[in-house]
Amino acid sequence: MIIERLSREHRNIETLLTVLERELEVFDRGDRPDYEVIRAIISYFELYPEVYHHPQEDLVFAKLKRRDPAAAARVGNLALEHQKGSERLRRVAHAVDSVLADQDILRQNVDKVVRDFIESQRHHIMMEDRDFFPAALEALEPQDWTEIASASNGPEDPLFSEAAEETFDELRARILQLEQEAEDARK
Ligand SMILES: [Fe+2]
Repeated sequence: MIIERLSREHRNIETLLTVLERELEVFDRGDRPDYEVIRAIISYFELYPEVYHHPQEDLVFAKLKRRDPAAAARVGNLALEHQKGSERLRRVAHAVDSVLADQDILRQNVDKVVRDFIESQRHHIMMEDRDFFPAALEALEPQDWTEIASASNGPEDPLFSEAAEETFDELRARILQLEQEAEDARK
């Protein structure tokens, strides 16, 4: 159930990465991308994985370390990877802000920073889907999942609530809607 949800979130994240890539292509050919879409995607990544997706993965990973240290070692340093992802995202936000502020910034550099973010996110998700999630499904005991669920559904943390999840669903739907409008306008 928890892994199902995390996998579903990976598919959602991939959808947004595809949208970001499409806007980057517009930028690369010298046209003006839809910055509202780009900013919304950055905001989504600033919030969702940081407060929601990664903390859940960290809980699962901590259990995996105890149940099957060798499998956890194969996954590697998850916390560090997540941290590097945040740094890449900050570089993306900074590059986009610079473009919008009309600062002298080479288009190639913007392309490089955004592409680096997209590619490393895809790679990270692929690794988690391939190594991390199957290992967790294999090694964790039912009581582990119960503990993770209760730790991540505590009323003390409203971010883990269903309402929060709906908010993110709506946010994604809005981004996709904006992207559709931008695509239509470019036709
Ligand atoms: Fe993930």
